[in-house]
Amino acid sequence: MSALKNKPLLKSLSGEKMERPPFWLMRQAGRYLPEYRETRAKAGNFLDLCYNPELAEEVTLQPLRRYGMDAAILFADILLIPHALGQPLAYKEGEGPVLDPIRAATELGRLDLSVIHKTLDPVYETVARLSQSIPKDCTLIGFAGAPWTVATYMVEGRGSKDYANIKQWIYSDPAGFSALIDILVEATIEYLLKQVEAGAEVVQLFDTWAGVLPDDEFRKWSIEPTRRIVEGLRAKHPDLPVIGFPKGVGGNIMAFVKETGVTAVSLDPGTPLDWAAQEVQSLVPVQGNLDPMLLVTGGVAMEKRIATILETLGKGPFIFNLGHGIVPQTPPENVARLSELIRGK
Ligand code: CP3
Repeated sequence: MSALKNKPLLKSLSGEKMERPPFWLMRQAGRYLPEYRETRAKAGNFLDLCYNPELAEEVTLQPLRRYGMDAAILFADILLIPHALGQPLAYKEGEGPVLDPIRAATELGRLDLSVIHKTLDPVYETVARLSQSIPKDCTLIGFAGAPWTVATYMVEGRGSKDYANIKQWIYSDPAGFSALIDILVEATIEYLLKQVEAGAEVVQLFDTWAGVLPDDEFRKWSIEPTRRIVEGLRAKHPDLPVIGFPKGVGGNIMAFVKETGVTAVSLDPGTPLDWAAQEVQSLVPVQGNLDPMLLVTGGVAMEKRIATILETLGKGPFIFNLGHGIVPQTPPENVARLSELIRGK
């Protein structure tokens, strides 16, 4: 255990202020890397890649070989849970994920919690392999989507601009919608516990679309399910670090931090840095928050913003990251420059 605690990412998560902050990047494995595109082509489609432990291990390791991040994030997707629950899912070229939508409580019978591990077993095997193959100072992060964000895809059937169907559901039948959230809370706890048992040292919950919820609904559908998941995980693993990422929620991140029990919180690009240093970082370690588009632009614009982030948040417990995932058009050499600046070499 003491050897584990020496890993830079775990030190930051336990509240230590590091001379050089640990770093990793959301969506650090992916299409911006030519070697990813090659492995993905070998796998067939994206889901086949997620369920192939050998190839999923390989793509998880690819960014580490180039850039030496302090964390490896399991290669998988937040939509594997709905898929494992029995909802048909496909990733269409140029369109993103497409699911056969569920729009009412009467349709929840299509989902079966008792069978999820049959589908998800290869993911646990990927975690087990990674726990043996990552560099010794590197921390293995498992993850899941938070119930609200996963539900947006399950109900809308794809990425959405206005969230019309899911909002219609939460406002007209909150009790029925909470039955869907209950299923997701349960599935997510089980899924993450299996990842931890296979060797994940930290877990992150992605609530990418938390910011579309008005205040009181954010409490109901983001804070409360997250709190229940943290509680369920800690019942078995009291010291497990959990990173929350409620994207786009502004000042409501304070309630999220105080009420969910997360160990640390990931900040989106819009979060004011001085405010975050004073108000958020005084409560929990923070992670973030470079705009992924600055990683596309590179050059002086990127370097200046990295310096500002390090200056402002580097004074407290901090993990350098993006404020959202890497985009496919990111030039790999800009990621190399970022790594050089953070690691000071
Ligand atoms: O961070 C990593 O390197 C680990 C892997 C990871 C993926 N997705 C792989 C992926 C993680 C942590 C995710 C999280 C995820 N997936 C989120 C939350 C974070 C965020 O970025 O908002 C969401 C909302 C999803 C759902 C999802 N998966 C969408 C909307 C898409 C299509 C958009 C896109 O980027 O293609 C995916 C597909 C996906 N997930 C890809 C990857 C590498 C691209 C698939 C491909 O190879 O074509």
